[in-house]
Amino acid sequence: MITIAIAKGRMQESALTLLARAGIRPNGDELNSRRLALTDESGRYRFIFVKPADVPVYVEHGIADCGVVGRDVLLESEADLLLPLDLGIARCRIVVAGADAEAMTKVQGMLRVATKYSKIASTHFGARGIPVEIIQLSGSVELAPALGLADLIVDLVETGTTLRENGLTVVEEIAESTGRLVVNRASYQLKAEEVSRLVNALELVL
Ligand code: PRP
Repeated sequence: MITIAIAKGRMQESALTLLARAGIRPNGDELNSRRLALTDESGRYRFIFVKPADVPVYVEHGIADCGVVGRDVLLESEADLLLPLDLGIARCRIVVAGADAEAMTKVQGMLRVATKYSKIASTHFGARGIPVEIIQLSGSVELAPALGLADLIVDLVETGTTLRENGLTVVEEIAESTGRLVVNRASYQLKAEEVSRLVNALELVL
């Protein structure tokens, strides 16, 4: 049996839809429950649903053989994983946003950047030689500029609604993000046949 860790939230529904198209479906009764671990109809797969940032942790430690998680989370994580597939689901952008397009040039002194993605943000501003103070938050990052906690944010944008409704606009794009299939290094060798079966089934529907 192969265990697949799936990021809860924006990724979960599209990941399950894609897996179903590849013929891998959780048991009907279990799907409608609140259980965080389900098996599939064939008994070949077990799904576990965890917070996005925990997917690389479960896969790196081999608790899950594979994972489905956004590129945003992988860029932020230091986990050593194999990345066999871009699944093209949950497409969004990682951006710098502020009150207006010139927000970055208007600030005197060090820029304060609020984000859940401190590594992505420091790498981005570091590469451009712009010194910043990173303010680590765990959600609702769009509130920070209006409340005076930060000048800018680094966050995900999908439809743009959250930015717009909080009076923010995109200042710069950092990267695109889509859902990825990641695989544990040992599972890739020791469960080569099962992992290939999963990768091939997904490749066929992509
Ligand atoms: C993300 C992101 C934005 C929002 C963007 O949050 O942090 O807040 O989605 O989506 P939009 O452009 O379609 O409005 P998410 O819902 O993943 O939860 P979070 O607050 O925990 O970050």
